[in-house]
Amino acid sequence: MTHEKVLVLDFGGQYNQLIARRVRELGVYCDLMPFGMSMEKIKEYAPIGIIFTGGPNSVYEAGAPDIDAEIFALGIPVLGICYGCQLVAHKLGGEVMHAETREYGRSEITYGNSALFAGIPSENVCWMSHTDFVGKVPQGFTVTATTKTCPAAGFEDASRKIYGIQFHPEVHHTANGSDILRNFLYNVCGAKGDWTMSNFVEEQIAALKKKLAGKKVLCAMSGGVDSAVAATLVHRAAGDNLTCVFVDHGLLRKGEAEEVVEVFRDKLGMNLVKADARDLFLSKLEGVADPESKRKIIGEEFIKVFEKEAKKIGAVDYLVQGTIYPDVIESGKGASAVIKSHHNVGGLPSVVDFKEIVEPLRDLFKDEVRKVGTELGLPDSVVQRQPFPGPGLAIRIMGEVTEEKLQTLRDADFILREEIAKAGLNKEIWQYFAVITSTSTVGVMGDARTYEPIIALRAVTSVDAMTADWARIPYDVLERISSRIVNEVEHANRIVYDITSKPPATIEWE
Ligand code: XMP
Repeated sequence: MTHEKVLVLDFGGQYNQLIARRVRELGVYCDLMPFGMSMEKIKEYAPIGIIFTGGPNSVYEAGAPDIDAEIFALGIPVLGICYGCQLVAHKLGGEVMHAETREYGRSEITYGNSALFAGIPSENVCWMSHTDFVGKVPQGFTVTATTKTCPAAGFEDASRKIYGIQFHPEVHHTANGSDILRNFLYNVCGAKGDWTMSNFVEEQIAALKKKLAGKKVLCAMSGGVDSAVAATLVHRAAGDNLTCVFVDHGLLRKGEAEEVVEVFRDKLGMNLVKADARDLFLSKLEGVADPESKRKIIGEEFIKVFEKEAKKIGAVDYLVQGTIYPDVIESGKGASAVIKSHHNVGGLPSVVDFKEIVEPLRDLFKDEVRKVGTELGLPDSVVQRQPFPGPGLAIRIMGEVTEEKLQTLRDADFILREEIAKAGLNKEIWQYFAVITSTSTVGVMGDARTYEPIIALRAVTSVDAMTADWARIPYDVLERISSRIVNEVEHANRIVYDITSKPPATIEWE
């Protein structure tokens, strides 16, 4: 089935993926594409509507992202947001002006009569982030929204279905932001809303059944959300022809390795091979303190263990990968500085004898992947799992990894997770975990002196892990976590809470 599609043209703003996610949440499929997409490609794509995102430039800068004005003659509705709206004005003969200062944050706005603002209160609040603004709208356009600083916070030529808004409807600080996008999609573009995760599951299973009929399929299962959902989807189509290999490196959190076996082998009946490599990883990590060396060793050993298991299975037709849409978008961008070398399963294809890669989730955002997992009957403990680094607990133990430290960390981390969940904070905090530092301090237990490594707690809120803020966990919750850890966990005598944002710190400690 072909879906109706909206094209989101990316002009480089920080909220661009969020715009695409919001459109999808409203039931309409969309792709985020570079602004330089050719006119032929755009026509071929045949969108029911086009959205221009925001971006960091001024339309007057040399080399600023531009668009061929022919796009306005295609008869396809256009919505320009922030930089996108300035570009609409600039290209069609309006005037973009420089402001003295940047406007950032909440702003009061008055909405006028427009299909975009139908059914929402006219006196409202929106979220602004801009310096330039549209001072004069192009001929044939009318102003539909104003704020104190923006004489044309909204403008349109309804007859040509071209719309501009200076504010960001995609962020939740814009009250009714989703309604505005919905109005554009349904009232202006005439969307029907055929993008749902139950449709997706049905269509994917049907397509995979055709593609994979009688073929041997292999998947590396990490316990993470993406590989779990990808494997489950493929299992629905390929059944016993799918073999999943799970490498237990002993660096997962408490109970996780057991859960992988319980859910996928016992409950879902998948053909799951568990390679118990706990001792191997521990011995390879012996005496290694440098974080990047630990990452390297874990990455390499992981591939070796997987290769050994894959050899036992022999040649396969397909290798399943849990690539998701943000990976696809990001891989199209230039390299940024390597702060930490992230190990993922990227090196696998070279050691597996296979014909083709199958990536059933490559069109989905993370929240959609989770919904698909739920549709497929996976438990919340798998589907709502927080991001977890490939090298696992090894980079949450500063310095050398030992079984004793792993044990302490697993237990402390488990208490943290339990208390965060009990307090109902697990959905609003992006990642939360315990860390064992390399500094020991003196404590007193009963009448005895203790000398143990400090345990640090880290909990952050974030949208994409690129930036993060430390979570304001209520004191009483922190207190419960701290006293439970020192009471219940061996080798714990001091707990500290990390109150640093990213940047300048990173989320993980190594
Ligand atoms: P940082 O610590 O760089 O983390 O702020 C950002 C996000 O990436 C995760 N992370 C990793 N993921 N392999 C991974 O697969 C790694 O080596 C690695 N290091 C950090 C981290 O948990 C956070 O979600």
